[in-house]
Parts: sequence; structure tokens; C-alpha cells
Amino acid sequence: MPAVERTDDESTIQRVLARAAECLRAGRIVAFPTETVYGLGASALDAAAVRRVFAAKGRPATNPLIVHVAGVDEARRVVADWPAVAQSLAERFWPGPLTLVLPRGPAVVDEVTAGGTTVAVRSPAHPVAQALLRACGLPLAAPSANRSTEVSPTTAQHVLQSLGDRVDMVIDGGPCPGGIESTVVDITCDPPRLLRPGLVTVTMLEAVVGRVRVVDKPTAGPARSPGMMERHYAPRTPLELAGTDRVVELLRQQQRVAWVTHTGVDIAGTEVRRLPSDAAGYAARLYAALHDLDATGVAAIVVEPPPAGDDWLAVRDRLQRAARG
Ligand code: TXA
Ligand code: MG
Repeated sequence: MPAVERTDDESTIQRVLARAAECLRAGRIVAFPTETVYGLGASALDAAAVRRVFAAKGRPATNPLIVHVAGVDEARRVVADWPAVAQSLAERFWPGPLTLVLPRGPAVVDEVTAGGTTVAVRSPAHPVAQALLRACGLPLAAPSANRSTEVSPTTAQHVLQSLGDRVDMVIDGGPCPGGIESTVVDITCDPPRLLRPGLVTVTMLEAVVGRVRVVDKPTAGPARSPGMMERHYAPRTPLELAGTDRVVELLRQQQRVAWVTHTGVDIAGTEVRRLPSDAAGYAARLYAALHDLDATGVAAIVVEPPPAGDDWLAVRDRLQRAARG
């Protein structure tokens, strides 16, 4: 197993970051915390290192990676063009859980963009991620630090459970506060297109850019965001979105059932997980609950359908994908 490096105090952090930066410059892969989920980082300028990330995850080479940068100056080095809309969004939401898809620059290797003409960039807000980016001085290609199609990791332990020896080093920064992946928005088109909902909501984006197109399903032709394949973010245990009647039915069949509720409805005889009733609080705890329920060995996870509305869009998206898994 790789060393899991804690970040408890200032002198430890400095030592760990120096080692991680050295690893990354040498073409190795390092898992690190962000404010959304843990990322599996490699130099976005090093084709062999990026290929190691794809191999560790078992990720199809056709699915491009997000490049993590310290800020706007560093983002401009990996894109071909930095339009006004990028500047406005970055000023409002960076560092933070918003990924911008832009025309790619020549610096990033083909492996990162899956040979495409665009590159996804984001500046993460987590202090450890920021410090790592500054310590290594590299743009870091970093998908979520889990095997392809699994639930993303929100703790260092989740990373180890999923990737184990496939990663060279894990920096433990504690649980990720956001809990689900960043919002991805394509700004190579007008109006911009939402490719993946996240904690930066459509309402928040529209306050800055006017209108945003929300595409439900990838249309025919080349996928705009190949990562939005249907089977994704799924726990090992079958998950369904349903109400208490379904739980009662499963209990009658003598099944061990987990019940995930945001309204606090208890059902006797189930493994209950009560999640917060606000979207951000719910998102922060969702993946940890799914990882945890996988470990309990229940036969089914029934999740109470989340509310309608823009602030719950990202949670609904992840749950629908998990249910299809
Ligand atoms: O919060 C996050 O975004 C986390 C943390 C680690 O930053 N990262 C993450 O990466 O979720 P990943 O690889 O699991 O998801 C990246 C998503 C995928 O859906 C991918 O297809 C899409 O971004 N993407 C990457 N580059 C793209 C591009 N050039 N055009 C369109 N979509 C792109
Ligand atoms: Mg992922």
C-alpha cells in the first residue's frame, strides 16, 4: 500500500508537499484532497504520467481529464484562448468547484484531452490542493481518485480502498467538504452548455453569464463530455430511488435494506442513514454514506427521491446515475 501522508500541522504539511511535488515532477501519481472529492494527480505536461492515471483507474482513454491549476494565470498557460466569459466566471467562482471547457493550448499532452480540441480547467479551493499546485509548479491532470465507474472518494481511506497500490502517494486532508464533483460548463459555445451539474448551480452561473443551456442527455454525434456515460458513480450494492412502500416490500422479502432519507422518516428494521435536508449538506455526505453502506453488506439501498429544483440538480444527477449502475 502507498504511504498515506497526514497534513496535521504546518511542518508536516511542508514536508509532505515537498515529497509530493518531487513525485509529480518525476512522473508519478499522487492522490490529493480537493473541496469536491479526492483527485488522482499527474503532470498534465507528461504523457507517460497521464497514461499511468488512466491505467490506475481503468479509465477509457477516450474520456478526457480536468486540468487543475493554481489560478487564472496558470489556466491561461493551458488554453488557446481566455475569453471574457472565462474571466468573469473565474473571478466569481475560482478557486472553487467550477470546471471550464475551453479551446486547448499546445502545452497539455493529447492524453489529457483524449485527443480533442478542448481542455477542461479548474482552480480548486482546498488549501492542500492549492499548496500542492504551488509547490510543484505544474498543471495537474486529476480525475477523481477511484476506479472508473465507482463512487468518487471523499476521504483518503476511500482512495486506498479503491486504488490501493495503484497510486504512488496519498495526501490525507480529511473529508472533502463539498462531497460531489465540480460543475463542468463548456464555454466554447454561446450560450455556454452545462455538461455536469455540481455545487455551482445553473442559477449561480446564469447570474454571471446570462443564459446556460442544460442538456439532459448526450445527443447523437461525438459526446461533448464523454465522462457523462450512463454507468457512473455507482455503489456496488444495487441502489434505487423509491419511497417507503418499496422498502416495506423488500423487508417482506427478508432482504437487508438500507434506507437513505433527507426528511427524517425512519423505517424500523432498515439500516437508516439520515442526510441533511439542504442540497449542499446532503451532497457533502452522500458519497460517504454510499461507501459506508457498501461496507455493511445490505442487499439493496433505497434512497428517498430528492426534491425538485435547481439547487438539487447535481444530487439528482448523481443518484440517477447510481440507480442506473
Ligand atoms: O470535482 C472534480 O471535478 C473532481 C476533482 C478531483 O477536481 N474531478 C473529477 O474528474 O470529477 P473526473 O475525471 O472524474 O471527471 C471529469 C469530467 C468528466 O465527465 C469528463 O468527461 C469531463 O469532465 N471533461 C474533461 N475534459 C473535458 C473536455 N475537454 N470536454 C468536455 N468534458 C470534459
Ligand atoms: Mg470521476
